[in-house]
Amino acid sequence: HVEGSLRPEYLHEYIGQQKIKNNLKVFIDAAKLREESLDHVLLYGPPGLGKTTLANIIANELNVNMRNITGPSIERPGDLAAILSSLQPGDVLFIDEIHRLPRVVEEVLYSAMEDFILDIVVGQGEEARSLRIDIPPFTLIGATTRVGSLSSPLRDRFGVHLRLEYYDEQSLQTIILRTSEIFNIEISEQPLEALAKRSRGTPRIANRLLRRVRDFAQVENDNVIDLTITNKALTLLNIDQYGLDHIDHKIMNCIIEQYNGGPVGLNTIAVSIGEETITLEDVYEPYLIQKGFIERTTRGRRATQFAHQYFNSLNNELRK
Ligand code: ADE
Repeated sequence: HVEGSLRPEYLHEYIGQQKIKNNLKVFIDAAKLREESLDHVLLYGPPGLGKTTLANIIANELNVNMRNITGPSIERPGDLAAILSSLQPGDVLFIDEIHRLPRVVEEVLYSAMEDFILDIVVGQGEEARSLRIDIPPFTLIGATTRVGSLSSPLRDRFGVHLRLEYYDEQSLQTIILRTSEIFNIEISEQPLEALAKRSRGTPRIANRLLRRVRDFAQVENDNVIDLTITNKALTLLNIDQYGLDHIDHKIMNCIIEQYNGGPVGLNTIAVSIGEETITLEDVYEPYLIQKGFIERTTRGRRATQFAHQYFNSLNNELRK
């Protein structure tokens, strides 16, 4: 393993998401037995849970190449046609942020996914004509943080729908341990637990925290990650005991102090704290809801009893 390439390459190296792995293994083995391309796969869930990693693993397990693009980067049907017609039979096309694919491109994708045929219009005005092109059978893997933003015709053309869940602390510990082995740095049980607890169920965050703690350990602690250096780093990074960061605190203090605990609309919160609504909705809110800090009501977001208790005691500490 070279540093920087932390991503696991095969299913057996991938930690957590057990149900998804079990299902995928069957679908992949079946496709290989039938010598067919794997059915199209839709991966969805909060950012940082390993959608791109899983797509890569699927391609590796199938022994095919993967082409990697993002929804907004494909502006015209011709761009998609060029990519699809350059694939080898059975290859994987990975489209990240597939909910941001332009409508005109999405419509070309329907017949490509269903029948491996491209129907595109070339030329303009009098000279316009429609072309029908056969493309090699391929597997589309679409990834999105917002499955609700996908049109139903597109969603329905994926044969396999997989929702990634936040990781439990045990899986995160195993991931952090694996990464520290790749980094060639030792980490004991207590800092491992402390980091897993503060990673918001998200491997990307776990690995990011580990990198920063490693920096402190290297510069200030003879390259040893112990609990003291871990807690020092987390405090300096403004990460609290639940893994909430500076922005989470702004969100919660906005609801609790400015809006009396809510309910208040997400847009209002976004404007108040100077973040984008989409970021709040995709990145921050899901974890705050899951950990029981926020509840959704028909009239907006409300701070829970638990949130009031925690943030009141924090703010009282600060006022002392
Ligand atoms: N690195 C990031 N996510 C991972 C996972 N799910 N398994 C193993 N290593 C990872």
